[in-house]
This record gives sequence, structure tokens and C-alpha cells, in this order.
Amino acid sequence: MREEAALPVALVTGASSGIGESVAERLAREGFRVAIGARRQDKLGAVAEKLRAAGAQVLALPLDVRDPASIAAFAAAAQAAFGQVDLLVANAGIGGGGKIEALEDEQISAMVETNLLGVVRAVRAVLPGMLGRGRGHVIVIASVAGAIPVPGLTLYSATKAALIAFCTGLRREVAHRGVAVSAILPGFIATEMTKQQGVPLRMPQPTVVADAVMRLWRTRRRGAVVPWFYAPLIAFSRTFPGLVDRIARRIRF
Ligand SMILES: NC(=O)c1ccc[n+]([C@@H]2O[C@H](COP(=O)([O-])OP(=O)(O)OC[C@H]3O[C@@H](n4cnc5c(N)ncnc54)[C@H](OP(=O)(O)O)[C@@H]3O)[C@@H](O)[C@H]2O)c1
Repeated sequence: MREEAALPVALVTGASSGIGESVAERLAREGFRVAIGARRQDKLGAVAEKLRAAGAQVLALPLDVRDPASIAAFAAAAQAAFGQVDLLVANAGIGGGGKIEALEDEQISAMVETNLLGVVRAVRAVLPGMLGRGRGHVIVIASVAGAIPVPGLTLYSATKAALIAFCTGLRREVAHRGVAVSAILPGFIATEMTKQQGVPLRMPQPTVVADAVMRLWRTRRRGAVVPWFYAPLIAFSRTFPGLVDRIARRIRF
């Protein structure tokens, strides 16, 4: 039996469904103590029960990443319960959108506050503790759309591109102080988000992202593209942006 103090602690934002749920499940199975947060308490509670039934120590807390006070309370409660944070998986995000000229101002605020500011604030809530201990890992769930912006998902793509830059900059700020920073760029994954968007593709399950989280935790590498075949597409789009502009005109969301 492992000593409790030796069990690492992970915080997962947006763990009530999809990728966050799958990541939390995987971390619990790997022996982490896990704090999970989201707005839908019924779904979050069901996830917590599932993890506890498998023997994990779980703290399930209401969290709205658009609200700075809610993020601070989430991080403080996790620190108080578990004494430390070894890993933050900043996953909470919203998708969709539409053409830029058709967006309501509230949709714009919601997207930027959730996908970008929510991540920045979650990181700031755990970073002082990690830097103080000289140890920790931040994994941000960005998107392939941040590297290959998608028409109709322009603002979403912009928030994810900002996250990729945020991770790169943050890594350069903190790597020499013991804190690793990684960005995961998932392609289309079968979750509520892609179901709502009506993505007409066969998609992998969110467990592929959970696998990437575990790989990055072990290797502390700067990031991963999942599934792997999006990586050459990203390289292609960087090399031939004009050609990709022409192809992208045909895409409709
Ligand atoms: N699915 C894909 O194809 C794909 C591809 C690339 C990247 N991603 C990214 O993966 C992440 C997870 O998305 P998903 O595909 O798993 O979709 P999902 O099933 O809709 O999950 C989104 C999660 O984020 C949470 N969330 C949303 N707004 C929140 C807020 N204000 N405060 C706290 N939690 C909030 C949701 O919980 P509540 O609604 O209960 O708050 C839910 O748990 C997102 O960042 C998304 O951009 C997804």
C-alpha cells in the first residue's frame, strides 16, 4: 500500500464530461489524488462517485472558470484538502461560435473568458505553490485549431492559439524553477462539444487525450498533438499557408 503523502495531487478543470472526465478517471487510476471542478454539479458528482468507487481520493467542487473568485476557491480547497498540487490539467473550455460578424458580444466574452482567461487564472492560482516547492507540472488542453485556425471557429481558434503562445512563454519563465509546462493539441475528439457542432467525422474517444496527459506527466515534454496524424497537417499548413487558405474556403461549420 502506498503512503498517502507520496500520492501526487492533480487538479482537473472541466471534469464533468468529455476530455476532462476521461483525464480525471485516468489520473485516479494511476494513483493521483484528484480535485475536479465544473459547473454542472450533477454530472461532476457522478464522475466523482465513479472515481471513488474505483478507490480514488476525489474532491469534487463547483467551479466556474469565468469567475476569478471561483477559481481561487477551487485551488485553495484542493491545497487545503491535499496539501499540495503536483499537476494542473487546465481543460475547461467551450467550443462552437459561428461566423465572426454573427457573434453576440456575450458569446465573444464567454469564449475568451472561459478558454483563455480561465486557463491563465487557473495557472496563476497553483503556480506560486509549485514554484515555492520547486516542483510541478501544468498541462493545458489547447487544440489543433490553435495551429490550423478553422473558418467558422475563428474566435475559438484564436483562444487556442493564444493558449499555445501562453504555454510557450510560461515554460520559458518557469522551467528552470522546476515547473514543467505542456500544451496538448487535440484534433477532433468524440465529446459533447463535437456532438453539438455536428462534426461529420469518425473521431477517437477522449481516452487518447488522457493517454497524452500521462505521457507528458512522465516525460515533462513541451507538448503533444493527438491523434498523431494532425502533426504533419500542422507542418503542412505552416509550410503552405496560401494553399491551406484555398482549401479552407470549402470548409463549413
Ligand atoms: N472535443 C474536441 O474535438 C476537442 C478538440 C480540441 C480541444 N478540445 C478542448 O478540450 C477541452 C474539453 O472539451 P470537450 O471536448 O471534452 O467538451 P465537453 O465535453 O463539452 O467538456 C467541456 C468541459 O468544460 C467545462 N466547462 C465549460 N465551461 C466552464 C466554466 N465556465 N467553468 C468550469 N468548467 C467549464 C464543462 O463543464 P460544465 O459545463 O459542467 O461547467 C465540461 O466539463 C476544451 O478546452 C476544448 O476546447 C476539444
